[in-house]
Amino acid sequence: MSTSSALDTSAPADSSAAPAIEATDLVKQYGDFTAVNNISFSVTRGESFGLLGPNGAGKSTTMRMIAAVSSRTSGTMYVSGIDPQAEGPRVRARLGVIPQQDNLDEDLTVRENLIMYGRYFGLPRKYLLAKADELLEFAQLTHKAKARVEDLSGGMKRRLTIARALINEPEILLLDEPTTGLDPQARHVLWDRLFRLKETGTTLVLTTHHMEEAEQLCDRLIVVDHGEIMAEGSPAGLIREHSTREVLELRFGMDRNPEIAAALETELGNREGLGYSHIEVLPDRLLVYADDAEAALEAIHADGRRPMTSLIRRSSLEDVFLRLTGRTLVD
Ligand SMILES: Nc1ncnc2c1ncn2[C@@H]1O[C@H](COP(=O)(O)OP(=O)(O)O)[C@@H](O)[C@H]1O
Ligand SMILES: [Mg+2]
Repeated sequence: MSTSSALDTSAPADSSAAPAIEATDLVKQYGDFTAVNNISFSVTRGESFGLLGPNGAGKSTTMRMIAAVSSRTSGTMYVSGIDPQAEGPRVRARLGVIPQQDNLDEDLTVRENLIMYGRYFGLPRKYLLAKADELLEFAQLTHKAKARVEDLSGGMKRRLTIARALINEPEILLLDEPTTGLDPQARHVLWDRLFRLKETGTTLVLTTHHMEEAEQLCDRLIVVDHGEIMAEGSPAGLIREHSTREVLELRFGMDRNPEIAAALETELGNREGLGYSHIEVLPDRLLVYADDAEAALEAIHADGRRPMTSLIRRSSLEDVFLRLTGRTLVD
């Protein structure tokens, strides 16, 4: 994004050096239910930071507290050094917000959606007309400028919501499940747009329950579950710390998996040089964690076992999540 604009969002001297976001001991309770349970994290400027976790983990709740649309029960939060609870409008002026559910105005055209939204920020019309065209181009929606929102595909609506969030040239973009519900192709188009924003220095804070999205987009992330942080790090660092380099996926048939897993644990545990760690038993398959999965498979064959199918892959954040919580992160 260009930085020349009619906007004055320049931060006071004291906040320009502050982290993009700093949350400490953050708690959110709904009645006696704790949705966010004492989480702390810090996002530096220009970083792409993720909250990865399943449905109900407290991701949207956390995003709403950052975006100054929901109050916190306790803890502290600073966005560019400003407390959203104390100075909501000042915080909102620095943020672009993409909520989990698109809330575009279906009665307006694509272009009008951008301009109307800019008016809420009190931005001048001349600025908005030029900015809308620039953002339509960025969102690859120029050809849809006069279309009605209801005629857009899911991916186009999501890109329009992102374009709209950029109208005030925000320092920080909050994206709540940016690609959930999109098909793989639409998801990749959107990732490409987010890469570009990242390259131009916009701070991205995104939530996802899609591990590939986290691996693709995040410099650093927290894994959250039941309102708590389970782990924090870069995608590669988390995989190194919590999983083996490779995974061997085996199918022996549903009813035989648990029994064979027990036998394999002993057999593989006794072999040197595999970098074997452990086995997870899923309903339909076994996951054998070993740095050298090919060697593990050879050892299994040498012991006379014949899986119905076998697949070798690298560890992913899905494996990290499974290790930390005992559950899979389903899309
Ligand atoms: N307004 C609310 N009132 C009561 N419970 C809520 C409210 N909003 C969210 N929750 C609950 O808080 C938990 C976390 O929700 P949410 O932050 O939406 O999770 P996520 O975005 O990770 O799926 C869920 O159990 C959800 O049902
Ligand atoms: Mg959510």
